[in-house]
Amino acid sequence: MIDKKTEQNHTNKNILVIHGPNLNMLGIREPGIYGNSTLADLENYIKEEGNKLSLSTTFFQSNHEGAIVDAIQEGFSKFDGIIINAGAYTHTSIAILDSLKAVDIPTIEVHLSDISNREFFRKFSYISFIAKKTIYGMGFLGYKKALEYFSI
Ligand code: DQA
Repeated sequence: MIDKKTEQNHTNKNILVIHGPNLNMLGIREPGIYGNSTLADLENYIKEEGNKLSLSTTFFQSNHEGAIVDAIQEGFSKFDGIIINAGAYTHTSIAILDSLKAVDIPTIEVHLSDISNREFFRKFSYISFIAKKTIYGMGFLGYKKALEYFSI
């Protein structure tokens, strides 16, 4: 007989996935850099990959720094992990960094493009000060890698 714990192959973790400014423009925005897929395509992909790993995913997108801070604060004690692509706020926002520090939820930072190999101002990330891992330049696959971090 297999006991319940062994039988349950579920991590049952709730992951908050945050998309920052201009990620709602995926599919239209600079397709040479970000590809032709839309944010809806990305969220479907993340949801499916999350399901495979028994992770439940909740999505939030905003173009506004304060709204992202609010979403992170509201996530306090509700989520087991955060996956964040803060878009351009990555490079500017101490407020988002502080909110991630405040809720103390394990966070993975993802970027679709290779931020190490673009304009100089994209090389610096405030989010990386709190992130367990920063994944960039892998497109959608970067989100799968981020989910895998929480499935272990
Ligand atoms: C991005 C990279 C950022 O520099 C940029 O401002 C974005 C998207 C990425 O996913 O590659 O909005 O985070």
